[in-house]
Amino acid sequence: MDTEVAETVLVIDFGAQYAQLIARRVRELNVYSELVPHDITAAELVAKKPAAIVLSGGPKSVHVDGAPLLDQAIFDLGVPIFGMCYGAQVIAHQLGGTVGRNEQGEYGRTEMSAIDGADSKLLAGLPAEQSVWMSHFDAITEAPEGFVATASTEASPVAVLENHERRIYGVQYHPEVGHTPHGMEVLGSFLHDIAECSPTWTMGNFIDDAVEKIAAQVGTGRVICGLSGGVDSAVAAALVHKAIGAQLTCVFVDTGLMRANEGEQVVETFKRHQGIELIHVRAEDRFFNKLEGVEDPEDKRKAIGEIFIREFEAASEGIADANFLLQGTLYPDVIESGTKDAAKIKSHHNVGGLPDDMEFELVEPLRSLFKDEVRQVGTELGLPDEIVWRQPFPGPGLGVRIIGEVTRELVAILQHADLIVREEIAKAGLERSIWQAFAVLPDIRSVGVMGDERTYARPIIIRAVTSEDAMTADWARLPYDLLESMSSRIINEVDGVNRVAYDITSKPPGTIEWE
Ligand code: XMP
Repeated sequence: MDTEVAETVLVIDFGAQYAQLIARRVRELNVYSELVPHDITAAELVAKKPAAIVLSGGPKSVHVDGAPLLDQAIFDLGVPIFGMCYGAQVIAHQLGGTVGRNEQGEYGRTEMSAIDGADSKLLAGLPAEQSVWMSHFDAITEAPEGFVATASTEASPVAVLENHERRIYGVQYHPEVGHTPHGMEVLGSFLHDIAECSPTWTMGNFIDDAVEKIAAQVGTGRVICGLSGGVDSAVAAALVHKAIGAQLTCVFVDTGLMRANEGEQVVETFKRHQGIELIHVRAEDRFFNKLEGVEDPEDKRKAIGEIFIREFEAASEGIADANFLLQGTLYPDVIESGTKDAAKIKSHHNVGGLPDDMEFELVEPLRSLFKDEVRQVGTELGLPDEIVWRQPFPGPGLGVRIIGEVTRELVAILQHADLIVREEIAKAGLERSIWQAFAVLPDIRSVGVMGDERTYARPIIIRAVTSEDAMTADWARLPYDLLESMSSRIINEVDGVNRVAYDITSKPPGTIEWE
């Protein structure tokens, strides 16, 4: 789906860690924003009709061979430009200023002073001395002609450069990160005052807009949606339902590998509360049969993925004249799939990971949103917190949290232990600060003693991680009291478990899931 909104700010990605964050920050200031690659041409850029351009930071030096630069013609388009860190150096370098190699770079919190008497629009209304977050080696030493330096630090004589006439601005620091206290004000000054973007982009507008576009795309057609219980497919379904009502049919394939009570919750939320037509496929038996004797993690993932698709296909064949498939694709998936060249660590299976020969036109109404924006949309559409704030859960479900063969009995044990972990995390108020917290059931046993009796049973491993995007993660420093209550409840309440361990591995080298 193409996002045609009144004003779009394009963030040009020079390979920064923070490029996505910049787009988010622009949206937080109520202006719609998208990322584009740095080799975009002036003509391609004009076609996107940006109201302003932001140049991200990047890991290179403008002096090295093959350093990413901007199509020079972009500077002459008259579109307001704001460069951050490397982006500011690109402005200085390409417009005739000087970027020098420093004796030493500047990293972390740095004090910056406004230059006396310099006429600054970016820093208007801010204190003359402020703390900014730096991360650079090269530094702009001379501003190009027509520009004035309006602030400096010890190692950066031109920490801020401004050209009011051409509306081109740059800062050597990172206004987008939380460690720069006045960063959002500076970005706001650029967007609202300098580029004159109106702060009108809100989730409410997004919903109205999306509803209109979905209705136009689908017409009188019929849409199928595979619900996983996860937030993305749930929000996508609620949004499409708002647009086309009874033309939407959801399919929920119950694998038997969901968490405790999750299947019922999906049916309850969508069928009863939202009034969405829902086909509930009870496929547990077929999944368990197929998993008999399968121990290897990749074989398991493949088996679950295959049978899932078959069940989904069978259910959708029964829906007459379905010609659209709804997918909860998010913006990070869209931009990453263009550039990602990562080694395959695990074969992921997602609802709607479909075989090539299924002939559906895709409906992807969340393609332009970040995860937390999707949550906002979900809340506005009246979805319950348990769905909107649900932690990520792998497509193959508990199947990849049971090491070795997956059986009904083991799933029941794990569901119970997992429920306790989640209940205790909720009781401690940590649900939203922890990325994922769950239980894993390994295929080992250990000796224990319970009430004078020797036991020989399985352990439960608790895994809790903090993360921004699941690409990297750290183990959560859970309070000892919380670990203790989880451990004693699991041992006392879950049959077949006599020991609890806590996983203290970050990612990398570990992955979040155990398989
Ligand atoms: P790993 O274990 O690779 O997981 O560190 C990263 C994130 O992805 C989730 N995950 C999956 N999600 N289908 C999914 O939709 C899958 O097959 C799958 N496997 C892992 C995992 O829970 C974590 O959030």
